[in-house]
Amino acid sequence: MSTVTPKSTTEIDAMREAGRLAAEVLEMIGPQVDVGMTTGEIDRICHDHIVNVQKAVPAPLNYKGFPKSICTSVNEVICHGIPSDNKKLRNGDIINIDVTVIKDGWHGDTSIMVGVGDIAPHAERLMRVTQECLYQALALVKPGAALGDLGHVIQQHAESNYYSVVREYCGHGIGQVFHEEPQVLHYGKPGTGLRLEPGMTFTVEPMINAGKRYTKLNARDGWTVTTRDGRLSAQWEHTIVVTDTGCEVLTRRQDETFPF
Ligand code: MF3
Ligand code: CO
Ligand code: CO
Repeated sequence: MSTVTPKSTTEIDAMREAGRLAAEVLEMIGPQVDVGMTTGEIDRICHDHIVNVQKAVPAPLNYKGFPKSICTSVNEVICHGIPSDNKKLRNGDIINIDVTVIKDGWHGDTSIMVGVGDIAPHAERLMRVTQECLYQALALVKPGAALGDLGHVIQQHAESNYYSVVREYCGHGIGQVFHEEPQVLHYGKPGTGLRLEPGMTFTVEPMINAGKRYTKLNARDGWTVTTRDGRLSAQWEHTIVVTDTGCEVLTRRQDETFPF
């Protein structure tokens, strides 16, 4: 028995609006990121936009005790970085900005990588290949496809570029609940796992490491996840809905066009 219930068309309409707002936050903040800015400032700008302009709610704030409104993960930080006024961005940093908004009770969850100043070719390449991992997975989404198909293509593309896939954190079903079934693994075997049906909504959010896949949780703050080997990590995330023929990217930004 499947515990993953497809959303109705009216529910998907509500998620489309939440997804659009989450994407808009990234479109707003991305171009503002610059050398010398703190991740605390990025958090405040996003928080104010979500609350005052969008009349929406930043889902991370107080979620299981998370203290800020977005996640900002710089360089070797894989995910769940906590914005701080003490964290100034430096030339050559790479940062993941992860935004989740709640609008009318529905969630939209999406993240981008931004290069700060002049980016080393190896860092640029990690960001690009990670985005390709996401896009190649989204291209496989259609009714009857298996979640393992998505995980496999992500793992294949990452590892063929001599990168590794983080195992401890994954994509997730999403709706009125931030993280719900199914778990969307970013590695796996074709034909395994849940079979997709129209109306299913979930995120795909591969975390790809330049070095080994192993992670370390900061015991002080209980949130910040870094690479064990201290090398760079990148992540991109979209929220999608399975359609009759493929998928709709609910958190699509203006700069993105999809052939599906
Ligand atoms: N946005 C993250 C995700 O993609 C979750 C952040 S939870 C928080 O699932 F508490 F760390 F904010
Ligand atoms: Co997510
Ligand atoms: Co997210």
